[in-house]
Amino acid sequence: MDISGGSVLVTGGAGGFGSAAARRLGGLGAKVVVADVADERGEALASEIGNGAQYVRTDIMSEDSIVNAVEAACRLAPLRAAIIAHGGPLPDDPGGRTIRKDGSRVSVAHFAHYLSVYLTSAYCVSSVAAEAMAKNEPLRSNQRGVIVNTASIAGFEGQPGQVPYGAAKGGIISMALNLARDLAPLGIRSMAIAPGTFLTYAFAQMGNEAAQERFGPLVLNPKRMGDPDEYGMLAQQIVENDFLNATTIRLDGGQRF
Ligand SMILES: NC(=O)c1ccc[n+]([C@@H]2O[C@H](COP(=O)([O-])OP(=O)(O)OC[C@H]3O[C@@H](n4cnc5c(N)ncnc54)[C@H](O)[C@@H]3O)[C@@H](O)[C@H]2O)c1
Repeated sequence: MDISGGSVLVTGGAGGFGSAAARRLGGLGAKVVVADVADERGEALASEIGNGAQYVRTDIMSEDSIVNAVEAACRLAPLRAAIIAHGGPLPDDPGGRTIRKDGSRVSVAHFAHYLSVYLTSAYCVSSVAAEAMAKNEPLRSNQRGVIVNTASIAGFEGQPGQVPYGAAKGGIISMALNLARDLAPLGIRSMAIAPGTFLTYAFAQMGNEAAQERFGPLVLNPKRMGDPDEYGMLAQQIVENDFLNATTIRLDGGQRF
């Protein structure tokens, strides 16, 4: 798909994956909406990308806020791509293995929180974006748009203590195909990327070196964490390549645990 005449919505757009995808797609001439709650990083990124890119403060826990971000993108140009790459607020319950060492169980509220942050919000962005894309004039390729969600290898094989996160990301993997089926008659594709371990802002507290030392050796080859631009490259390829549809692509250097 030629994205140059369209707009792109990136949720978590100021984050590691989001900013990498935003830079790549902005570089192709798309009008980018950086949707996030990190105001300073979001504003800075929008001015770095230029070409009319906008930072729109967007809380992915709020449907109204998501609708507002989609409308902002549509005002710039027809919405052709939604890259869904946000994190979200931390839960009150610290989580852990389902039954913790002290015999207590991880709360249902904790499980529901993860579904809400990582899955319900992704459905909300996907469906609101698809509703807008459905109104686009189709391109010569008969395509109207593409939705790219972010799963995780935890959706295939999580680690101990990852039941809620793994379930949410498993939902994203399932949604990639089911959305693609529903949206096919409208000329809208749906894909998901399942990253392994990437050095994004999510590891800022730990520090880059400590994160590399701990997680780099888990990767089969190359023996390092992923670079967010490797996610950006794949997001770009998914947007541009009309024959990629209805599946989840692992992007993990062969990591399997
Ligand atoms: N980094 C990894 O190793 C990894 C691996 C697999 C999957 N993922 C997934 O990738 C996605 C992005 O994570 P990342 O690693 O780029 O993290 P990140 O911390 O670099 O980016 C996440 C972004 O989401 C934003 N955000 C937080 N709360 C928000 C809210 N309420 N509304 C809107 N935006 C909000 C943050 O401000 C941040 O900019 C997440 O869904 C995560 O589960 C990450």
